[in-house]
Amino acid sequence: MAQNEEKNIIIMGPPAAGKGTQSELIVKAYDLPHISTGDMFRSALKEQTPLSIQAGKFMAEGKLVPDEVTIGLVEERLAKDDCRKGFLLDGFPRTVVQAEALKKILEKTGRKITCVLVLEAEDEELIDRIASRRVCPKCGASYNLKTKKPKVEGICDNCGEKIILRQDDRPESFKVRLEDYRKKTLPLVDYYRKEGVVKEIDALDSIDNVFHHIQESLETE
Ligand code: AP5
Repeated sequence: MAQNEEKNIIIMGPPAAGKGTQSELIVKAYDLPHISTGDMFRSALKEQTPLSIQAGKFMAEGKLVPDEVTIGLVEERLAKDDCRKGFLLDGFPRTVVQAEALKKILEKTGRKITCVLVLEAEDEELIDRIASRRVCPKCGASYNLKTKKPKVEGICDNCGEKIILRQDDRPESFKVRLEDYRKKTLPLVDYYRKEGVVKEIDALDSIDNVFHHIQESLETE
């Protein structure tokens, strides 16, 4: 993809591969809106609407939220003005049904996906990362007890709240998320490979090096 072309990007990869971490860097560097379905669901949960309560039950067990709920949410978000010049989708699509729906949504406005970044990492590393991840339940900031510690132990740098283990990071839920990724989301790599937009990224490297590889992928054909 050339440097000045529209950037309609998907970042995918197994849970804890670093999608959220890299998304923060990508949206800052390329001035794109960050559309994370996981973040959208977590923020909706705070409102405790009947729909968000239903989604929260799936999430706590590590299961995917039903396609119809997720697709509607993303369609609404992609229609907003800030997505006209490009966007970064993080955690969507996760099923072939979602990918087909996304294609139709974008076609309505003459758009298409220009790049799919696939973060690759082994299960052993993912399990290690998830065990040391902590999040702020108030502002959503993410930390890692090994690689991204808060300034004061156990306390969020941004808002002073006590940081916690995400509910779906418990080993039993994490196992379901990993299995679901392999079964339902990984087939999307082939789906997008046919469209010639897949860039595989080694996610086992340092955060800075992974980002460097992503930039190279986004700025070269
Ligand atoms: P979502 O929030 O999307 O979770 P996920 O895909 O499981 O991904 P994570 O947030 O766990 O990990 P990440 O890859 O962002 O890694 P991170 O950067 O934090 O979805 C949650 C749930 O919502 C789903 O299970 C489902 O229920 C529902 N949902 C969402 N989208 C849906 C959809 N489309 N359809 C249906 N349901 C949906 O990094 C992890 C840790 O590693 C951090 O501590 C970080 O600091 C550290 N780290 C990152 N990179 C590195 C590195 N290079 N070296 C060392 N440490 C690193």
